[in-house]
Amino acid sequence: YRNLRVALLGAGSVGSQVASLLLEHRDELANRVGAGLDLVGVAVRDMDAARDADIPKELLTTDAESLILGSDIVVELIGGLEPARTHILNAINSGADVITANKALLATHGPELFEAAGQVGAQLYYEAAVGGAIPIIRPLRDSLAGDRVQRILGIVNGTTNFILDLMDREGESLEQALKTAQDLGYAEADPTADVEGYDAAQKAAILASLAFHSTVPLESVYREGITGITHEQVVKARRAGFVIKLLAICERLTGPEGQDGVSVRVHPALIPDAHPLAAVHGANNAVFLEAEAAGNLMFYGAGAGGIETASAVLGDVVSAARRHVAGGPGVAESAHANLPVLPIDAVTTRY
Ligand code: NDP
Ligand code: HSE
Repeated sequence: YRNLRVALLGAGSVGSQVASLLLEHRDELANRVGAGLDLVGVAVRDMDAARDADIPKELLTTDAESLILGSDIVVELIGGLEPARTHILNAINSGADVITANKALLATHGPELFEAAGQVGAQLYYEAAVGGAIPIIRPLRDSLAGDRVQRILGIVNGTTNFILDLMDREGESLEQALKTAQDLGYAEADPTADVEGYDAAQKAAILASLAFHSTVPLESVYREGITGITHEQVVKARRAGFVIKLLAICERLTGPEGQDGVSVRVHPALIPDAHPLAAVHGANNAVFLEAEAAGNLMFYGAGAGGIETASAVLGDVVSAARRHVAGGPGVAESAHANLPVLPIDAVTTRY
């Protein structure tokens, strides 16, 4: 199969790591996909800005529009609504599959983007948009598609979890902890999105839409951030056997006449010490999910961070590339065909 042309838009915390992994693991990825993945360019705003990972200078461009044309796969990691929305629509209309981690855009313009993709048979992948490295979009969309999800309790913003954790364990102020989270690449370009709960609300809208097979508009998500939380409240909660977390709660409701409804909300909540969500520290995220048949499931891991999130983005790149190679949908099984048998030279029963 011919090599596939991959265009990357954005080389910030996440984008620079995606570029670096695509280049570094080029041969391995080609084997997994059955075709080479050529990173044909990386669109940025400032050609001379410092980057978290080495990207060959000749790949950088400020001309995203030209880069998109002729690409098979476009990875949008710019963030925000515009120009990300326009670039994604242009990519879809030029025949590319698109990968994005942009929950703000999906929660605001998701229906428009999915419809545009559907009209031309393109795919829009967004595993990294919720929970960073944690696989949660595919499990909800595919693995649990035959079940009835009743409730989701999610710690879905790494920055606020990191801040609340530092306030609790190190006695830091919200401002100090936020500065550290920004330095580590966890926060949004405008960190108000994190601390005021907008980012978590966007993710809650995406999770609820998938879980309840519906469209949950962002405006209908109740939102409260963590800026009102004081160190004294954190300490008081701890003494009483609780920890304060910013929770995204998505619930299926049944009205008095049996009609279906949902409640989706984001606000700080007291979690009892014994609950698994109380043990989610740092920038980790967790999605605790209650389903009718499956029972309780918990998805846990790095919820923010450049390289961690790049893992989920690259998974989407591989999925999109395999789809191209197979010439359409239904490619998952082909990925398991003709795999090499690895020698097993040690067997241990120890964990
Ligand atoms: P950054 O702010 O670190 O990077 C944004 C990148 O986009 C920069 O390289 C910037 O260029 C480039 N850019 C901005 N505007 C334009 C434009 N008009 N044309 C071309 N390039 C542009 O963001 P992140 O990497 O942190 O986040 C990217 C996306 O991933 C966002 O949607 C975010 O919500 C999401 N996300 C982030 C996570 C994280 O932990 N950081 C985790 C999960 C999702 P330049 O460098 O030249 O300024
Ligand atoms: N700013 C986001 C967070 C990035 O802290 O969770 C991951 O979506």
